[in-house]
Amino acid sequence: MGFLTDHKKTIIAGFILLAIILGAAIGTGGSLPDSYDFSRYFHVLSGIIWIGLLYYFNFVQVPSLGGVTPETKADIFKEGSIVRRALFWFRMGAHSTLLFGTILLVGLFGDKLNHGGSMDIMIGATFAIIMWFNVTFIIWPNQKKVIGMVEATADEKAAAGKKALMASRINTLLSIPMLFLMFSSTHFQIFG
Ligand code: HEM
Repeated sequence: MGFLTDHKKTIIAGFILLAIILGAAIGTGGSLPDSYDFSRYFHVLSGIIWIGLLYYFNFVQVPSLGGVTPETKADIFKEGSIVRRALFWFRMGAHSTLLFGTILLVGLFGDKLNHGGSMDIMIGATFAIIMWFNVTFIIWPNQKKVIGMVEATADEKAAAGKKALMASRINTLLSIPMLFLMFSSTHFQIFG
């Protein structure tokens, strides 16, 4: 059970299990998903990483760091810390979700699916792209000041923290209808 002691091996084991399931499906007369379906899978997997960490920041980390002193914060935010790792996977999740989401969008407009380019997905994807923009151009540049990767005075750090928090809260708000529209676009289009 060595693969359970190292998270990287655990993830590889998960993909091996998936490969076995796909092999079993083919062996019993099923068919392999095409590249579009794989993109949808990696899109959702990436989205879980991104939005999971967004909710972790908003529901767990930010409320817990309210009364923490600047000295403790410096320790919490240092190189290799939980916060820096979480921010790294948060950004990678956002980029990867956008990458696979764009492949899906291009597929939809190439009329890959019979519901190509519904109003549901247009609104959902617009919300998600705004969220990605917030991560890349507001949250991350400001977080770099907060965690000390970019030089900033105490006042600048406080202002940067507020900007990052507001953008993060906007993303939390948008994520609620965004996720609904991602699903509705495929399963039950609310705009018809
Ligand atoms: C970053 C920008 C994003 C774009 C451009 C985008 C685009 C798309 C597109 C075009 C589809 C439709 C695929 C289809 O009809 O086959 C889709 C599906 C989906 N998206 Fe996104 N998306 C984005 C972000 C997100 C995020 C942040 C999540 C959160 C987890 C998410 C979750 C989903 C889910 C769960 C589906 C699958 C729905 C289903 O087939 O049941 N998306 N996305």
